[in-house]
Amino acid sequence: MSAGTTTGMATTTGPPTSAGTAVPVSGEPGGLSTTDFGFLRQLLADRSAIVLDDGKEYLVQSRLGPVLRSGGMPSIAALVDAVRRDPRGPLAEQVIDAMTTNETSFFRDLHPFEALAEQIIPEILGRHGRTPRLTVWCGACSSGQEPYSLAITLLENFPELEPAQVRIIATDLSPTMVQRCREGRFSQLEVNRGMPARLLVRHFTQDGTDWVARAELRRMIHTSQLNLTESWDCVPRCDLVMLRNVLIYFSVETKQEILGRIRTRVLGPGGYLMLGASETTMNLDPVFERTSFGRSSCYRVPGPERA
Ligand SMILES: C[S@@+](CC[C@H](N)C(=O)[O-])C[C@H]1O[C@@H](n2cnc3c(N)ncnc32)[C@H](O)[C@@H]1O
Repeated sequence: MSAGTTTGMATTTGPPTSAGTAVPVSGEPGGLSTTDFGFLRQLLADRSAIVLDDGKEYLVQSRLGPVLRSGGMPSIAALVDAVRRDPRGPLAEQVIDAMTTNETSFFRDLHPFEALAEQIIPEILGRHGRTPRLTVWCGACSSGQEPYSLAITLLENFPELEPAQVRIIATDLSPTMVQRCREGRFSQLEVNRGMPARLLVRHFTQDGTDWVARAELRRMIHTSQLNLTESWDCVPRCDLVMLRNVLIYFSVETKQEILGRIRTRVLGPGGYLMLGASETTMNLDPVFERTSFGRSSCYRVPGPERA
């Protein structure tokens, strides 16, 4: 897993930056010059829309440490030079992947999953009448804890739903994360973060020190790499979009563009959008309606009256 859920990152010890001055960071050879920081910041903005704020040199340095080591590069400056020479090449892709923040956990924030089980999914299924089916897009799935939590919520609460009637499209910018989600393999440390023991033993099998999602769960989840700022060709019309804890990394314009596209191209009337606890559509998209469900809230495209 790249940064975010990793530990043991290098820490800054360097002085404030000045133009062209390398900032030494403990644990990494050399430093990160302001020019190289600016280049990486632009690369990330252009290719992922992630906005890297001033003063985040330490973050770049700690996250690129493993890329440096795996490529046998002597310094960050050498790495940046190589990316400059081939900005569309595999090394640049590796740098972008490593710069994503993949923090996640099972049943993150808990209340949204209660709202899904008790109110949102029953409403959606009621709308589909006699043929129960559900299509959900998890648009920044990270290593998969979110789509697997949703799949478990469905199996536990909606026995009438056959796994074949459920499609959870799980996408992420990071190929490393998409691969992890596809494998459905989690460490003990990861399952300790949010997975109740009774659900763990029911839906996962133990393999050494890891836990692997059962086939029934994996069958519901369809993974693809997808950049939210590019084409969404693999995303069908959905009943629900979960786009949690990713808009926070983008500019206002990018948030607006993504929200507008979700509303007009992915969700139909009555469709639901679930954001992270600190995210909102307010002041970004005037059409979504905020709906409270107990201790969590969701955003709804205006449409058919609710039953
Ligand atoms: C903090 S994680 C959120 C994971 C999960 N949704 C949750 O709430 O637990 C943010 C994820 O967004 C992904 N991401 C960042 N920029 C992206 C982009 N432009 N397109 C698609 N995914 C992106 C990252 O790779 C990362 O896995």
